[in-house]
Amino acid sequence: MDKPVENLTIEEAEVELQRLRREILYHDDLYYNKATPILFDTEYDKLRQRLNAIEKKFKNLITDDSPSHKIGATVIESNLDKINHKVPMLSLDNAFSIEDMEHFTNKVVKFLNFHGELEFCAEQKIDGLSASIVYNDGKISYAATRGDGYIGENITNNIKTIKNIPKTIDLIGEIEIRGEVYMPKSFFNELNEKRKITGESTFSNPRNAAAGSLRQLDHRITELRNLKFFAYYIRSEKLQLLTQGDVLEILKNLGFAVTSYKLCKNMNEIMNYYTVLSVDRHSLDYEIDGAVFKVNSLAFQGRLGFIGRNPRHSIAFKFPAEKTETVINDIVISVGRTGKITPIAILEPVNISGALISRVTLHNFGEIERKGGISVGDTVTILRSGEVIPKIVSITKKSGLPPFPTPLLCPSCGATLVKHAGLVDLFCPNRYECPSQIVRYIYYFVSKSCFNIAGLGIKQIEELYTDGRIKNVVDIFKLESIHALPSLTLKPGWGSTSVQNLYDAINKAKNITLTKFIVSLGIPGIGDVISQALAVKFETFEKLMSATKKNLLEIDGLGELAAHNVEMFFKNKINSDFIKHLLKYVTIKDFEKPKSMNKSNIFYKKTLVFTGKLSKMSRAEAKSLAISCGAVVGSLISNKTDFVIAGENAGSKLKKANELNVEILSEEDFLANAEASQNS
Ligand code: IVH
Repeated sequence: MDKPVENLTIEEAEVELQRLRREILYHDDLYYNKATPILFDTEYDKLRQRLNAIEKKFKNLITDDSPSHKIGATVIESNLDKINHKVPMLSLDNAFSIEDMEHFTNKVVKFLNFHGELEFCAEQKIDGLSASIVYNDGKISYAATRGDGYIGENITNNIKTIKNIPKTIDLIGEIEIRGEVYMPKSFFNELNEKRKITGESTFSNPRNAAAGSLRQLDHRITELRNLKFFAYYIRSEKLQLLTQGDVLEILKNLGFAVTSYKLCKNMNEIMNYYTVLSVDRHSLDYEIDGAVFKVNSLAFQGRLGFIGRNPRHSIAFKFPAEKTETVINDIVISVGRTGKITPIAILEPVNISGALISRVTLHNFGEIERKGGISVGDTVTILRSGEVIPKIVSITKKSGLPPFPTPLLCPSCGATLVKHAGLVDLFCPNRYECPSQIVRYIYYFVSKSCFNIAGLGIKQIEELYTDGRIKNVVDIFKLESIHALPSLTLKPGWGSTSVQNLYDAINKAKNITLTKFIVSLGIPGIGDVISQALAVKFETFEKLMSATKKNLLEIDGLGELAAHNVEMFFKNKINSDFIKHLLKYVTIKDFEKPKSMNKSNIFYKKTLVFTGKLSKMSRAEAKSLAISCGAVVGSLISNKTDFVIAGENAGSKLKKANELNVEILSEEDFLANAEASQNS
C-alpha cells in the first residue's frame, strides 16, 4: 500500500519519483516501441497518477525529463521499415495572396502556351499527413508515409486500421492511392481531455496527434485513435483518367472519402472558392489550412511537370497567418555554415496555431535598424502561418532599454565581421577555422540531402567537436576506428546501441551518389537541383572537377555566379586537399542515367539551341523536355551545337546554324523524337 502523498517527506518523495519515472519509461518503451506491454492500462494509469500527484505537491522536484512532460508517444523512427516510392511524393508550392495566385495561373498559361479556357480543380487542403496505399489485385499490398518524398516508412498495418479506407477495391493490377490521414477535431479534443485526466501530456494539434498515432510500431494504438483518410490521387496504368475531377469521382466510386471540390474557370471562381472555404472551415470536423488548386487536365499536368520538388500544375493557397504578442527575453547571435551572422530573438514562449514558439529569427542587423532598433524586453507581435517560420511583424511596446548593438566581432571565433558589397548580411570571414562555421558545416554534411547520417544532431556534433573527436567532416569517418565503442559510450547520453547505430549509419554513408556528394561540398548557390544537373552532365566527379566555366555555363539554370563559385571552389588548394582526404574514406557512385536518357534517344548528351517561336509549347516546357532527355540546352550557336530547333520566324540563329552545318529540326521533329525517348 502506497503511503498517502501528503504524508511523504521530501526525501521519500524524491526516491519515489525516481522509481516511478524509471518504471513509466520502461513500460512506455514496452508499449509503444516493443509492442509487448506487461501491465494492464489501469495499472499503468496508477503509476502516472501517483507521479502526477507527487509532482503536484513537490513542484521543485519536477525534472525536465519527467515522463509527465512527454508529448505523445515515443516512436523509434528507425524501427519502421523503409519503402521506396515508385513515383516521388513531393510537395506543393504555396500562395498567400491573389497576386501569388495570378502569378501561378499566368505561369501555367505561359508554360503551356495555351490560350483557351483553363480549368482548375479546387480542393480543400487537409492539415494531416500524406500517405500512399498500394493495392495489388484489389487488396492492400503496402502503405507508406511520405518520408523524405523518395523513401517513406512502412505503415501497412496501421493504415489497415483506418475505418474509412477500403480494405479491398474492385480493380485488378497495381493501383496506388494517395491522400491525407487526419484526426477529426472532435476526437482530438476528446483524446486530449482523457490524457489530461490520466496525467498524460496532451497533443498540441490534430496533425501532431495524427502523426504520433499513425507512425506507431503497434498498430493497435493506431486503431484506438479514430484516424480518417481523404484521397486525392490515383496512379494506375489501367484506368482511363482525363481530369483531376475524374480522379476524385473514381476514388468515390472505389469507396474512398474525398473532400468537396469545385471546378474553377477563372480568378473570380478561384477567389470565390477560397473565400467561402475560409469561412466554412470552422464548421468542418477536420483542420484545413488552405485550398489546393490543380490544373484539371491530367495531360496538361503531365506537360507542366515539376520545378525542383514542386509540381508546376498545382498550388496550395494557404489561409492567413495567426498573430500573437510576446516579450523578447534575450537576443543571441548565430554564425551559420557560410559565416552568415543572424540575430535571433529568444521569446517568452507563446502558443500560435498549436505550436509553442520560443525563438524567432531577426534575419540581419539591417532588418533590426529598419524596425527602429529592437531591445531585450520589447513586446512584439509574432505572426505564424502553417508551416511557415514565425516572424516578428511589429514592435508593440518598447522596453526603454538601448537597442541591441550591431556586433563588430564574430561571437564564435572573434574575427572582425565583414559586409560584402551589395549584401545586407554580416559575415565571419574565418571560413576554415571558425568553430561555429565548422560545426554548422558538419551538420549540413550529415543532413538528408548530403551524407544522410542519422544520429548526429547539432547537439551531438557540438559535443564531439568540443571534445576534439570530430574537428572536421573527415573525422566522422575515423570516429569508429579511433574512438571504438567503449570510449564514446563512456560519455553521458551515448548508449551503446545508439553509438553502434551511428557507426553503422556512417559506414553506410561511405558510398554516396554523385549528386549528394556535390550537394555536400556546400558550394554557394549549388543546391540539390543544380547538383543533379551537374551530375547528369559530367557523370563522374573527376570530370566535374576539371570542368571549365564555359562547360558549366552550358547547364540550363546555372548562372555566371554559380559557375564562378564551382570553378573557384575546385581551384582552391584547401578545398582540393580536403576532397583528396575525404575520398580516402568515401566512394562516389558515378551518375547512372535514368531510362529516358538512354537508348534510341538522339538528344542524349547533345547540345540543343532553340530559336524562333514555338507553337505547341513554351520555351520553358521545351527546355525541360530536352533536359529530361539528357540534353544540354544552350543559347548561342557554335560548332559544338548538335541541333537547332527552329520555330516560326527563326532569324539570325537559323542562318548561323546553316553556315555551321548544324542539324536543324522543326518543332514537330523535336517533339516526336523527345516523346519517343520518354516512352522507350
Ligand atoms: S496534392 C505534389 N491535394 O499538402 C503533392 N495535397 O505540400 C501533391 N495535402 O504533401 C499533393 N490536402 O500532404 C494535395 N487536396 C490535397 C491536399 C494535399 C492536403 C497535403 C499533402 C502535400 C501537402 C502540400
